Amino acid sequence: GKVVVLYGGKSAEREVSLKSGSMVLAALKRQGVDAHGFDPAEHSMVELLEGHFDRAVISLHGRFGEDGTIQGALESFGIPYTGSGVAASALAMDKILTKAVWLSEGLSTPDYVRLQPGFDAKAVVQRLGLPLIVKPAQEGSTLGLTKVKCEEDLQVAFDMAYRYDPNVLAEKFISGMELTVPVMGEGQGAYALPVIRIQAPDGNYDYHNKYIGNETQYFCPSGLDDAMESRVKDLCVKAYQVLGCAGWGRADVLVDSDGTPWLLELNTSPGMTDHSLVPMSARASGVDYDQLVLKIAASARL
Ligand code: DAL
Ligand code: MG
Repeated sequence: GKVVVLYGGKSAEREVSLKSGSMVLAALKRQGVDAHGFDPAEHSMVELLEGHFDRAVISLHGRFGEDGTIQGALESFGIPYTGSGVAASALAMDKILTKAVWLSEGLSTPDYVRLQPGFDAKAVVQRLGLPLIVKPAQEGSTLGLTKVKCEEDLQVAFDMAYRYDPNVLAEKFISGMELTVPVMGEGQGAYALPVIRIQAPDGNYDYHNKYIGNETQYFCPSGLDDAMESRVKDLCVKAYQVLGCAGWGRADVLVDSDGTPWLLELNTSPGMTDHSLVPMSARASGVDYDQLVLKIAASARL
């Protein structure tokens, strides 16, 4: 059938999505699939409908793509699509809602408070300690995120995050190992791919160290012992299941110095660029980029 790869879009992660999508499109074409690119920022949804596509591969990141909106349009058009459905996409896009669900299911995620204009900086610092992390609830690729080292800097960090999303959270800072874990499948059939351990310069895994620089080191196999690797994978599979995710996703985790893993977020449309992590983990499990893309495309459903 005719496949559409959705990429680009209007979010702050547009550039990342253009990279992900063009690589996904090329992989499908290499394998003889009748695949077409479509950028919702440049074409209307009417054109998408008129394209008579048999399935959609979503390579959009962030809002208007990873957050349930495009998923809702595709549901209405009756076009099967990859990844999580409307509700899980919307939940996972919002870090505050995500954490609320995880906490209600007894899964560990760093303590946090929602910051609203006029918040009490002293109370926030008292509760979460310093340093702490301030970030917009709905954003990806660490855009709008600040590590706040003193109470006086909290307001500037809030203002910055607020520019991306009026829903802002402050989160306890966890010093330790940074891990990421792809999860595939759905419900009881969900399973984790190998854990990747990330070592960014100065522990600063920001936009630059994600996509631009080449100093970040990735370890897969992770170097964790078997018990810890399984514990982290189990946690990530549960994190994915309780949000109702499907198809594929990627959970980001920190492990503190006591060896406790803490869930940070779940990406329902993870990056597929040449710097991206799901392809790296898949490769470690014997699945190359092209095979991974076919596998994801094949999982499209309504
Ligand atoms: N938000 C980026 C695309 C990722 O998680 O890979
Ligand atoms: Mg993210």
